[in-house]
Amino acid sequence: MNPVKIGLLGLGTVGGGTVNVLRRNAGEITRRAGREIQISKASARELGRARICSTEGIELTANPFAIVNDPDIDIIVELIGGESPAKELVLQALSRGKHVVTANKMLIALHGNEIFAKASQHGVMVAFEAAVAGGIPIIKTLREGLSGNRVEWLVGIINGTGNFILTEMREKARDFADVLEEAQARGYAEADPTFDVEGVDAAHKLTILAAIAFGIPLQFRKVYTEGIRGVTPADVIYAEALGYRIKHLGIARRAAKGIELRVHPTLIPERRLLANVDGVMNAIVVKGDAVGATLYYGAGAGAEPTASAVVADLIDVVRALTSDPENRVPHLAFQPEAISDIPVLSIERIQTPCYLRLSAEDKPGVLADITRILANHNISIEAIIQKEPLAGESYIPVIMLTHRVLEQELNAAIAELERLASVNAPIKRIRVETLG
Ligand code: HSE
Repeated sequence: MNPVKIGLLGLGTVGGGTVNVLRRNAGEITRRAGREIQISKASARELGRARICSTEGIELTANPFAIVNDPDIDIIVELIGGESPAKELVLQALSRGKHVVTANKMLIALHGNEIFAKASQHGVMVAFEAAVAGGIPIIKTLREGLSGNRVEWLVGIINGTGNFILTEMREKARDFADVLEEAQARGYAEADPTFDVEGVDAAHKLTILAAIAFGIPLQFRKVYTEGIRGVTPADVIYAEALGYRIKHLGIARRAAKGIELRVHPTLIPERRLLANVDGVMNAIVVKGDAVGATLYYGAGAGAEPTASAVVADLIDVVRALTSDPENRVPHLAFQPEAISDIPVLSIERIQTPCYLRLSAEDKPGVLADITRILANHNISIEAIIQKEPLAGESYIPVIMLTHRVLEQELNAAIAELERLASVNAPIKRIRVETLG
């Protein structure tokens, strides 16, 4: 049988890794796919650049549209990243009846609904395993392995850069800016590292996971997104004293009145496996009603871990080339006509325990004022730490852990506390997840 011809858009880190994996494992891949998978054309912005892969036998061009429009190409692998021209290229490829494999989380999170509709219209597939958590096969797991379950929640460390920064801050007491610089130099961070530290990258990935877990549309704009810039070394130390670690989590939960979709720094008990996922590694816990809690761990970025997911998608697509489009696994796991319109809850409507850090005047009655305000808002305190004042200082750090509280109620209490003359604004708040 003739080889399946691939057009590769982008020959950067992941593109180079994909070429290397396809070449190194060609024999095994053909045995699995049933046909040889051959990269016949590739596009790159700078054709003469040094690369991690050899491009021997691959026709190179600087014009990716020439590949998308080439009738000899069966499958397009989009590894350019970003919104444009990736979106135009993918839509054009689908219109021309080509299947698409992509690692582009932003593209799927923002434009997936339109892209999947176009793919269905033309009877072709869009595969995107590499878009979430690099080499961890979490899309396939949710879409196929756990398809007998009603997913209750999923919680993940889905941005390696953020996890690397928090790990270095905790283990080596390093400064935020200094660690970020190292993450950029090591190539973990996005082209725009604010996407990592502000939680946008994790929100793209959570959007995709939640759609597949709950059968809801991709709704990136409804994800509550908070980054890690505000986490201080003091918070890391106080969290540890309370038996917790701070992780930047993506959380999707089916609650009574809707779906929670949120990305924010979170205190989790240090005995949980997720609390011990360090450095650039990713991990996702998925709780299904039948299977219980399951954990998926691995490299969330990097040339070959991401290529592992791209190549697995390619094999899947090749295996399904001759299948009837109606009988393929739906893009978002649920049949398109069965997608649910269950609402996404605003952050004010979620309930979690909370860590609060205040700077309060060290004089009689101040703690009583603080606890009275919390009590008036029906907020119960689980633990409290009050530090000694530094020499010559009249304000002290007060750290509190609350029981579960409705965010709206906590907001009102914090506003009232910040109006106290004896408390310095702003008060720091970090949500807690027990993952029980
Ligand atoms: N910047 C991303 C991360 C790369 O740090 O996780 C993988 O999506």
